[in-house]
Amino acid sequence: MLRREARSVLGVEAVGPYTLLRLERGGLDPGTPGQFFMLEAPGRLLPRPMSVCLAPLGELGFLIDPVGPGTRALCQLSTGDRIGILGPLGQGYRLDVERPLLVGGGIGVAPFPYLSETLGGPPAVLGFRSGWHAEAAALVPNAEVAIEPTYVTDVMPPGHDVLACGPEPMLEAVRRLASDAQLAWEAPMACGYGACYGCVVEIDGELERLCVEGPVLATA
Ligand SMILES: Cc1cc2nc3c(=O)[nH]c(=O)nc-3n(C[C@H](O)[C@H](O)[C@H](O)COP(=O)(O)OP(=O)(O)OC[C@H]3O[C@@H](n4cnc5c(N)ncnc54)[C@H](O)[C@@H]3O)c2cc1C
Ligand code: FES
Repeated sequence: MLRREARSVLGVEAVGPYTLLRLERGGLDPGTPGQFFMLEAPGRLLPRPMSVCLAPLGELGFLIDPVGPGTRALCQLSTGDRIGILGPLGQGYRLDVERPLLVGGGIGVAPFPYLSETLGGPPAVLGFRSGWHAEAAALVPNAEVAIEPTYVTDVMPPGHDVLACGPEPMLEAVRRLASDAQLAWEAPMACGYGACYGCVVEIDGELERLCVEGPVLATA
């Protein structure tokens, strides 16, 4: 039974332009890498979906790109503040892969520290728009970094089981190179658990809720 829980902020750290928000985990299950939590942003009516970035003992970490009012409010939290969180939600990555390669773009790096740790530090290729953004690559072991105008798809080695997260054009380009890649998609989400139908996308010709069927979908 899912319940919204109040949790304390343990730390707020800058990682390039992003913020690593560390929350007390308590008894919460961090879930499978690629799953997400809904985080209540102070002053905003609706919570915001965030992928689990790190899950050390007793903590849940979220890497946040401050792109609008909700994400900015989350980045402005201070140690000791309390916020409501709900999760883990959705479907994460399938971990039964033989030759994993993590492929990420921008804030799409967010689920990879936890994913990399779970898979034993596989190779990763991470694309960013600047060296400042690329500071987030330090959170992922064995990562090769591509900075624009070089794209991750220019440096992606063949012959791997690709697990990807990033902006839609990057995911489409990855899918063209690796037709069986697992891709983490985004859609606006109001509830995160299937009730509002705000995140409906077309999957294999059917309309599905991305928060229930995804966010990670196999493309094959
Ligand atoms: C499953 C999932 C996991 C996510 N994980 C992370 C994460 O780990 N770190 C992180 O920084 N962000 C993550 N996001 C995106 C994050 O939830 C949004 O950026 C945030 O909700 C925007 O809220 P806001 O109030 O700051 O900005 P808003 O004002 O709501 O939006 C700012 C801009 O982003 C667009 N936008 C907002 N939400 C989405 C969306 N879901 N998909 C595409 N465009 C959107 C808006 O149209 C607008 O242009 C995730 C989204 C999903 C669906
Ligand atoms: S976010 Fe409400 S149904 Fe998916």
